[in-house]
Amino acid sequence: MEPSDFIWMNGDFVAWDEAKVHVLTHGLHYGTGVFEGIRAYETDRGTAIFRHTEHLDRLAKSAELYYMPMPFGREQLRAATHELITRNDLQSCYIRPLVFRGYGTMGLFPLDATVDVAIAVWEWGAYLGDEGKRAGIRAKVSSWRRISPAGLIPHAKASGQYLNSVLAKEETAKAGYDESILLDQRGFVCEGSGENIFVVRDGALLTPPHTAAILDGITRKSVIQIAGDLGYPVVERDIARAELYLAEEVFLTGTAAELVPVREIDDHELGAPGEITRAIQAKFEDALHGRAQEYAEWLDVVIERSKVTS
Ligand SMILES: Cc1ncc(COP(=O)(O)O)c(C=O)c1O
Repeated sequence: MEPSDFIWMNGDFVAWDEAKVHVLTHGLHYGTGVFEGIRAYETDRGTAIFRHTEHLDRLAKSAELYYMPMPFGREQLRAATHELITRNDLQSCYIRPLVFRGYGTMGLFPLDATVDVAIAVWEWGAYLGDEGKRAGIRAKVSSWRRISPAGLIPHAKASGQYLNSVLAKEETAKAGYDESILLDQRGFVCEGSGENIFVVRDGALLTPPHTAAILDGITRKSVIQIAGDLGYPVVERDIARAELYLAEEVFLTGTAAELVPVREIDDHELGAPGEITRAIQAKFEDALHGRAQEYAEWLDVVIERSKVTS
């Protein structure tokens, strides 16, 4: 990770190296935190945050699901993020807001513990590599199943829940694959360790529904919109594991990874990225970088270029 100059913590801008917490921070012990992964891109209008409002909404909802009162409103967090990017002089970056139970209370009952908020921004390249985005990645179905709604809240992007993704990632990385695909508790395809999944069969896009314990991905939502606009049918339905091997095309979507084709799953060759994947990926990249006028409202411009130069 490339350190930046400043981090925002509980209303203050502090030096990167000074952004510290106590070792008895509640969230560190019990995973009692919620977070977001957001990206900002360089565009002709200036640095712009992709679907910022939707990410801040999801952050607030994740916090609410764990009865965590947010000490700052969405507009405050939005403004803080803008200023943080500007102070760090970043043209494009990854943005990580974290809301967590802080220091002062131990034990599992968290409702008396403080709630702290931090936002970090740093330069971060393609999560699964530029080559992965171009040529596709090798994936493996993990033996670990995605967390079940019977025991946790798949809809929440909560820190402790990510031990599930970490186990899957570790397992498949040790086996020599680029990414893991998790099945849900029923054995249907769910998602990648940090991405949603799309499968092309008979020219239509399939993606697992909310009832398959997915995270409600913002990239997923954007890709569903783009695919529909390009004229590809999209069906949200359960996907059997073997359908991954029989697919014409498979790709993963997420803020960190962006849109990544999958060229091999469990040693079944799917081949080079297909036509539908390519078409959607190209339009998605246009949307991220402000080249798609029809999706201009997805971008939250940090400082309009015209205002900088005037
Ligand atoms: C488990 C999981 N699923 C899916 C996604 C994709 O979500 P988004 O497109 O909102 O980044 C992520 C990344 O945030 C994730 O961590």
